[in-house]
Amino acid sequence: MKIIMLGAPGAGKGTQAIKIADKYGIPHISTGDLFRSNIGNNTELGREAKQYMDAGKLVPDELTVRMLFDRVSNEDCKNGYVLDGFPRTIAQAEVLEEEVGKRDDRIDFAINVDVPDDHIIRRMSGRRACPKCGATYHIEHVPPKKEGICDSCGEQLILRNDDAPETVQKRLDVYHEQTQPLIDFYDKRKILRTVDGTKDLQDVFGEIVKILGD
Ligand code: AP5
Ligand code: MG
Ligand code: ZN
Repeated sequence: MKIIMLGAPGAGKGTQAIKIADKYGIPHISTGDLFRSNIGNNTELGREAKQYMDAGKLVPDELTVRMLFDRVSNEDCKNGYVLDGFPRTIAQAEVLEEEVGKRDDRIDFAINVDVPDDHIIRRMSGRRACPKCGATYHIEHVPPKKEGICDSCGEQLILRNDDAPETVQKRLDVYHEQTQPLIDFYDKRKILRTVDGTKDLQDVFGEIVKILGD
C-alpha cells in the first residue's frame, strides 16, 4: 500500500502517518524528518536545507526529490510506504507519479488532513518533537509520559526551530500557494480522501482506517 499524507503544516500528518505505519506494517517516510536528521548530522544536504527550513520556505525540488527517491529505493519500501510531507509541489507530484508508474505501480490514496489555519497556529506553539525518532507530542493534547522526554526512545524533546509563530504563518502561506493545488491534482486521479483533522487524534485515525480498510 502506497499512501500520501496531505495537509497544512501542523495538521497532524506526522501523528497519523506514524499510526498508519504501525498498523499496516509499512515505513513512515517524512521528508521533514529526513532533512532534520541531515541537519543533526551536519551533512552537506542538511546545511543546504537548513536555510530554507528556518525561513519557512520549501527546500528546492531537486534536492528533495533526490533524497526521497534514495530513501524509497530501500528494500523496506518494497511493499509500500506512507509519505509524510512529500509531494509538496505539483512538480514533485509529477515526478513521483512518473517514478511509481515506471514500476507499473500507483499511489493508492492521498489522505488530506484538513485543519483551518487559525486552529493550526494555536496547535503549533504546544508541539514538542523528538529529534531522534521523529515522534511528536503536544503539551496539552498529547503529553509524553515524562515531561520533556520521548516515550519511544528516551531522547530529550525539543521545540522545532520553525515553530516560532511568524515562521508558522510563513509556512502556511507557502502551503496555500504551493501545496494546496495538490488536493485538486489527486482529486482528479480519484484517490483523494479528506478527513477532519480538528477531531481528537484517535477519531481522525478511525476515519483513516475506514478509508484504508482493516
Ligand atoms: P515538515 O517536517 O514536513 O513540516 P510540516 O509540513 O510543516 O508539518 P509538521 O511536521 O509541522 O506538521 P504535521 O502535519 O506533521 O503535524 P504533527 O503531526 O506534528 O517540513 C518541515 C520543512 O522541511 C518544510 O517547511 C520545508 O522547508 C522542508 N520540506 C519538507 N518536505 C519538503 C518537500 N517535500 N519539499 C520541499 N521542502 C520540504 O502535529 C502538530 C501538533 O499537533 C503536534 O503537537 C501534535 O501532537 C498535535 N496534534 C496532532 N493531531 C492532533 C489532534 N487531532 N488534536 C490535537 N492535537 C493534535
Ligand atoms: Mg510532521
Ligand atoms: Zn524519540
